[in-house]
Amino acid sequence: MCGIVGYVGPKEAKDVVVEGLKKLEYRGYDSSGIAYFQDHSIEVIKTKGKIIELEKKLVGQRTCGKLAIGHTRWATHGRPTDVNAHPHRTPRVALVHNGIIENHAELKQELIKKGYEFVSETDTEVLAVLIHSKLDEGLTPMQAVQKSLAAVEGAFALAIIIKGAEDQLFIAKNLNPLIIGLGKDEMLVASDISAIIRHTNRFIILEDNEMGVVSNSGCTITDFSGKKITKEVKETSWNPTLAEKEGYKHFMKKEIFEQPRALADTLSDIVDNERFRINLRDFPLAKEEIQNISRIVIVACGTSYHAGLVGKFFIENLCGLHTEVDLASEFRYRNPIIDKHTVMLLISQSGETIDTIGALMEARARGAKIVSICNVRESTIDRKSDYTIFTDAGPEIGVASTKAFTAQLMCLAAIALFLRQEINGKDHHMTTKYVEELLKIPGAINQILGNDSAIQEIAREFFNYRDFLYLGRGNNFPIALEGALKLKEISYIHAEGYAAGEMKHGPIALIDEEMPVVVIAPRDRYYQKTLSNLEEVKSREGIIISLGTERDEKLMSLSKAYMSVPPIDELFYPLLTVVPLQLLAYYIADFRGTDIDQPRNLAKSVTVE
Ligand code: M6R
Repeated sequence: MCGIVGYVGPKEAKDVVVEGLKKLEYRGYDSSGIAYFQDHSIEVIKTKGKIIELEKKLVGQRTCGKLAIGHTRWATHGRPTDVNAHPHRTPRVALVHNGIIENHAELKQELIKKGYEFVSETDTEVLAVLIHSKLDEGLTPMQAVQKSLAAVEGAFALAIIIKGAEDQLFIAKNLNPLIIGLGKDEMLVASDISAIIRHTNRFIILEDNEMGVVSNSGCTITDFSGKKITKEVKETSWNPTLAEKEGYKHFMKKEIFEQPRALADTLSDIVDNERFRINLRDFPLAKEEIQNISRIVIVACGTSYHAGLVGKFFIENLCGLHTEVDLASEFRYRNPIIDKHTVMLLISQSGETIDTIGALMEARARGAKIVSICNVRESTIDRKSDYTIFTDAGPEIGVASTKAFTAQLMCLAAIALFLRQEINGKDHHMTTKYVEELLKIPGAINQILGNDSAIQEIAREFFNYRDFLYLGRGNNFPIALEGALKLKEISYIHAEGYAAGEMKHGPIALIDEEMPVVVIAPRDRYYQKTLSNLEEVKSREGIIISLGTERDEKLMSLSKAYMSVPPIDELFYPLLTVVPLQLLAYYIADFRGTDIDQPRNLAKSVTVE
């Protein structure tokens, strides 16, 4: 949460920083700001609201020269106001921060006693004042930053400018991500790659408890005590156009339509096309170790958690391994039972979700092997795992996750098939059959997307309703949860996902003629039972929007509106059924005129607890 950008180089620094902030706006967008030097004084321009408000404030400002830092905020401590927006400053220091300074209250009291004053309600301001106080004691800028870092507790990614060191950016990291982009005669600092790929594909990743000084001629990285650290330069293959809307009204729509490509790319990395086998090169467990796995524990948050719930079906059905699924925010504080025969499977689009990282550390301390499914190479979760399977979805910018979700499902199916191959090598023909089914999925999604105008019409009919219920059974129950989450996060309509069989245990009391109920009922082993649940809704005047397999006349006759998916092996229906629900949520939100790519109160990477 919160995005940081810094620039040193020959271009107009504030333009580069603002352009970078726009790429990071998905990380938080309740206020933003920028700081730079003007006539040897620090100039800070910041405002409540989105970056477009900052741009308005910057119109008519003089050029700022070669160095600037900027921030887009998702508020933790202190309301989203002009004053609480970053950068925070003193006459000698300005800084931007992602994270939480946990001991800010104590530090603030000490500084107030020494006569320093504060203007904001944030935890961050204390660090700017602390560095200033160290400069007042006569320390050099570098020493002042080092001494201050030694005094703070908590999570931070920081970019700092200091009067008297006007061609240098000071940076530091603990728990929150920060990278340095190495351009030609220019250097960038950012929370993630999307802010720098227009300028360079070469970057360095800062690790916890590392700091650096960046100038246009290079950077020096040290630990907090000043000991030099040699860093590896990495390269990204992401191309800048993947982070553009390319004619779509919203990133979310573009990303929904990218799913066939994303899934085909994800598959091409892991399927051996000649032998129809799953090939997870360098998987960290030998065959015997795989045969000794006692349990798989899947841990994730939000949409990735829903992918995990589907993954449980894949793993239990395809390889008979006991699988549990947990929310990362619960797992890490629950004294979980983990041993060296447990495989921990983490799922995260961003690879930076703090709760998922916390769960990873907990499981690692208890001896589990850590395998991750992740969309961002070199993210924290990728680097801390024993093995990562990458979703090849490309950058996902819309806050509502879509293409990353289906790509996660594809990886989960692949892991399940891989474990099956290793545990029970003999039934080669069954693996081949499943792999063939997976290879059909990109085409089947294309077919669903070809029908989006029909789903848009359904959205037009229903966008004014206040509450929605989503029902599904078996492997489509998680899709009911995901459909409801998509609708609530981008349209602000109250929506609940339920296991269809649970209806009669409570939620059926909600049904009346004002309640649209989305029923997921593909032709699978649950079909007849789901139809009975649908009849229960219908006989209580509920409005049914159903989602079935191709032209299902029976389902159509019971429903006010009908959506469909092509037939596929029943285990893999979730990879298809989620797509019409993504489109339904998207079009409902579009008719309501909400801010689809940046819904209120949300951020793409949740890097605070
Ligand atoms: O990056 P992650 O997959 O770890 O993120 C987890 C959740 O924050 C994320 O899926 C969130 O629920 C999305 N906004 C859902 O659309």
